[in-house]
Amino acid sequence: MRSLIVGVIGLLVGALLTLSAINALRQGTAYPNGVMAVMSAQMKSLDQSMRRNRCAATDLMPALQTLRHLGNDLEPAFLPTQDDERFIAHASELRAALDAAVSTPPADCAAARVAVDRVSGGCQACHRDFKG
Ligand code: HEC
Repeated sequence: MRSLIVGVIGLLVGALLTLSAINALRQGTAYPNGVMAVMSAQMKSLDQSMRRNRCAATDLMPALQTLRHLGNDLEPAFLPTQDDERFIAHASELRAALDAAVSTPPADCAAARVAVDRVSGGCQACHRDFKG
């Protein structure tokens, strides 16, 4: 009887520890997943604007600016990685592409497409090296 009780207590403690470990893991990924989810939503909104031929600064600037601000959260969200220097280089490259787009707002959809493709190239370059 006593070993049964000890066994049940052991199972309960094990279950509780597993739950708190799962919770900790989830909290650890909420920040990076959140940054990526919002970046992805803003890229989609840029794409939609261009498809609808809405490429005035007022159409594109809000998304570009949000992306630029979120660019500051890449390192705090993801570091440490297996290769921080490379990660920071990719993050800086993305921020540079966004700085260029924000400081020289695209004059038309063709120019917007070039700017957004450069940004998207920044996303892909980092994903090639760091997205498992
Ligand atoms: C400096 C590195 C870096 C840059 C730049 C970057 N990402 Fe990511 N992204 C990652 C990493 C690392 C992951 C994988 C995260 C994981 O698997 O936990 C990821 C995952 C994602 C995911 C998938 C999330 C998921 O649930 O699997 C999306 C969508 C995404 N990124 C969108 C973007 C967009 C859009 C951009 C550009 C505007 C961008 N990312 C720029 C590093 C980056």
